Amino acid sequence: MNSGEWVILSDSPSRTREIGRRIGALLTHGTCVALVGQLGAGKTEMVKGITSGAGVADDVVVNSPTYVIVNEYPGRLYIHHIDAYRLGGAEELEAVGIDEMLSGEGAVLIEWADRVSDLLPSDCLHISIEHAGGDERRIRVRGPRRFAPIRG
Ligand SMILES: Nc1ncnc2c1ncn2[C@@H]1O[C@H](COP(=O)(O)OP(=O)(O)OP(=O)(O)O)[C@@H](O)[C@H]1O
Ligand SMILES: [Mg+2]
Repeated sequence: MNSGEWVILSDSPSRTREIGRRIGALLTHGTCVALVGQLGAGKTEMVKGITSGAGVADDVVVNSPTYVIVNEYPGRLYIHHIDAYRLGGAEELEAVGIDEMLSGEGAVLIEWADRVSDLLPSDCLHISIEHAGGDERRIRVRGPRRFAPIRG
């Protein structure tokens, strides 16, 4: 069994970003990161941390794509950021070609991944974020064992 699941509690947006930074530091080319959780759970906060950990410059603004399907941030690897909530439909994602994005120097971070799960590779790193009262969040990370250091 070469995969694991880790549960981490976060009590603030900055803590969630810090967990994201650790994940970003471990990202390798071709990794798909599937983020799920309700509105306001903290998926985008997590994405901000992951991009920072993947070496995207601090002055690059990271927000969910609104007028484009994919935001792209250059870093140690090339990060593609998709928000499936804002996609017109799964066809839009199919059209841009997730496999292309994962080839070469790329990694894909996708919010609301459960909406397009059929289109995602089977070996994504799964991150689910749940409200746990106030600013508390329960973050479950499931994927390859090499991500174990995210527990800090
Ligand atoms: N522990 C926490 N981790 C992350 N965000 C938190 C935490 N506590 C409070 N927040 C707040 O919750 C909100 C999370 O917003 P964010 O945009 O990251 O959510 P989201 O899951 O991407 O939502 P959406 O589905 O609308 O895109 C922010 O306003 C953030 O400040
Ligand atoms: Mg979001």
